Amino acid sequence: MRNIHIIACGGTIAGRADRATNLTGYTAGVMDIGDLLAAVPAIHDVAAVTGEQLFNIDSSDMTEEKWLALARRTEDAAARDDVDGIVVTHGTDTLEETAYFLNLTVHTCKPVILTGAMRPASALSADGPLNLLEAVQAAKTAEAGKYGVLIAMNGMLCSARFGYKTDTTHVHAFQGRQMGVVGFIQNGEPFFYQQPLRLHTYKSTFFLGDAETLPPVWILYAYVGMSPDLIRAAVSCGVKGLVLAGLGHGKNPSYCESALQQAARAGIIIVRTSRVLGGIVTEGGDGKAFICGDSLTPQQAKILLQLSLLRSDGAAETKRNFAQY
Ligand code: SIN
Repeated sequence: MRNIHIIACGGTIAGRADRATNLTGYTAGVMDIGDLLAAVPAIHDVAAVTGEQLFNIDSSDMTEEKWLALARRTEDAAARDDVDGIVVTHGTDTLEETAYFLNLTVHTCKPVILTGAMRPASALSADGPLNLLEAVQAAKTAEAGKYGVLIAMNGMLCSARFGYKTDTTHVHAFQGRQMGVVGFIQNGEPFFYQQPLRLHTYKSTFFLGDAETLPPVWILYAYVGMSPDLIRAAVSCGVKGLVLAGLGHGKNPSYCESALQQAARAGIIIVRTSRVLGGIVTEGGDGKAFICGDSLTPQQAKILLQLSLLRSDGAAETKRNFAQY
């Protein structure tokens, strides 16, 4: 039997409501790893499973410091000879961000699979037990490690590079943004169809070292009436980078341009992404202060910019990172 280690972080998969029919209004992150495993006795027929409780939180309370702890914990577990694959249980609200962070900072060829649930464990037809079982079924398949960190939800395996939560409450919430579904799990067996080409896990050159925090990077959302004061506020708060969740092809209202140029003169790197879910951003970069965010979401671009800044990459290297990761 393959050995799978589960790192539990809370979320709705560990959530409970007063009644089985309450699908909202529950408390996330109250059941522990023992409860999660007890709900899926069949898991022990699939793999030799061990588990630990790293956090038990609603994932809206995930922090960058907790990311650092989770990445180190995952990397340590992956380095063990008696671990063949890792599953991380996590709240779905920030699961995609954690998945991308781990995709860049955990160096392993072993499968690392994130899963969660859209319905609390107390719900009629809770989705957590099957998601957990399928995550373990994927994690015990060595091939899954080739594709970087994966998100196993609702029978689909999405690459962390493209996985995205697209629904507030329904179980089909995670989708692959045009190209991120690398496979499915059917009757306990993963089927793979495509491979992410961008660098991840064992090919990532981002190392956390002894970092205790990540460089401050803010995301600014563009909209009709966006105030340039947001940009000035970010500069005066000492951010090192800005990610613009821009309009269409990564644009900003023209009256915000001078505040952005001022930020650039202050040495801040500005990454242009889009609030549009599909496509890529290739315009508006100058390779110095302004960088195109490629097909990353604003929240993913923030992570890649933070890791670039942590390594003191200059604008040219940062631009290259956005073309490679
Ligand atoms: C959370 O993100 O912790 C709550 C929501 C969820 O897991 O679906």
